[in-house]
Amino acid sequence: MKLDLPRYTERFGAISLHGVQRVYELDSGFNGGRTTSETIRSIGNEEISEIERKIAIVIPIKGERLKLLEGVLSGIPHDCLTIIVSNSPRQPVDRYKLEKEALEQFNRFVGKNALILHQKDPGLYDALKEVGYTSIIAPDDTVRNGKAEGMMIGMLLAKMAEKEYVGFIDADNYVPGAVNEYVKIFASGISMSNTPYTMVRISWIYKPKVSETGLYFSKWGRVSEVTNQYLNSLISYYTGFETEIMRTGNSGEHCMSMKLAELLTYSPGFSVETYEIVNILEEFGGIVPTENQEAMDKGVEVMQVETRNPHFHEEKGDLHLKEMFNGSLGCIYYSKICPPRLREKVIEELHGRGVLDEGGEPSVLQKISPFKDIDTHQFANVLHNRATSFVHSG
Ligand code: GDD
Repeated sequence: MKLDLPRYTERFGAISLHGVQRVYELDSGFNGGRTTSETIRSIGNEEISEIERKIAIVIPIKGERLKLLEGVLSGIPHDCLTIIVSNSPRQPVDRYKLEKEALEQFNRFVGKNALILHQKDPGLYDALKEVGYTSIIAPDDTVRNGKAEGMMIGMLLAKMAEKEYVGFIDADNYVPGAVNEYVKIFASGISMSNTPYTMVRISWIYKPKVSETGLYFSKWGRVSEVTNQYLNSLISYYTGFETEIMRTGNSGEHCMSMKLAELLTYSPGFSVETYEIVNILEEFGGIVPTENQEAMDKGVEVMQVETRNPHFHEEKGDLHLKEMFNGSLGCIYYSKICPPRLREKVIEELHGRGVLDEGGEPSVLQKISPFKDIDTHQFANVLHNRATSFVHSG
């Protein structure tokens, strides 16, 4: 893959937030081919494959169409470990069983390493309880609903499988070729990174919508433009300079080094992607004290890479959008580093969009603790013995 070196970087404490990088060539040959410019990096297929062997790709899924899941599976490079964490209904039709069978059938042909687990499996609850990781557990003694909660389980499974990197790809992607590009971008970003504490976020070139006159290639999702604006305001407040650096505040497709992933605190549901950035600013921005001196010393990098493929995915309804506004802006609002002026603006924004009633505040989001201290061997033992939905295929 040939892509830009970061052209502009915003520095915030120990964090380097890189501006959006473009892809020039999806495949630049076995050794990376010839680079014609000092500002372009070429990562050869051999190096990409080597990194892919160290990546687990987590697919959170809840009731998506099987055809879409099958497409996503086919787009993930063979050497990555695929991890499906499902919260699909088990009654009246057992949708999870269908997903598991689809994975097993796929693997009969491709012989790929994959794990699948249901989010509500009582054996998963036992395993989490055993290792004292309770921040994703609901009062009814199951794992809470939510995409972030699914991602957390995926990260634990990736750590259990000793993967160095963990990436996320939604199950409702229509284009397998785009999925493949996301993973190549993850690997290329990892290869370009200068620190073990790294994150690579996908910036979609277009998110096409069907309009009366045909396909319209819009640049922004309905929520992301607003989320980015508030993340940028948060950064500008501390640097004193306006910025447009953040372009991927809601990027569902992203990856992290395990070293970074296990240090972060997460926010539930659909606030997860935005809060990853907020928490990186909180932890490594030098504004409030941190316990993670090694990451401060080595630095944290956030890369944003623009795809060549447009992003076609299932469009969910208006209620879902409100939930996303509430979560994305709510996690900025409740951040310990959010200045009062920005909090007021968040409230005005959410009122203006009809997300909040007069006098209302965003829902309080229950934080999810870092998982760095979890004993993954103990977790794996209990999971293997008690989680009946857990399957290792391939
Ligand atoms: N395991 C699990 N548990 N998966 C879930 C859950 C859950 O409770 N809820 C949703 N998912 C899965 C969906 O099946 C899908 O694969 C993925 O999480 C994203 O959920 P969607 O409902 O499709 O969200 P979206 O497409 O509107 O939003 C996506 O894109 C946004 C950026 O445009 C999400 O990835 C957002 O987090 C992201 O900000």
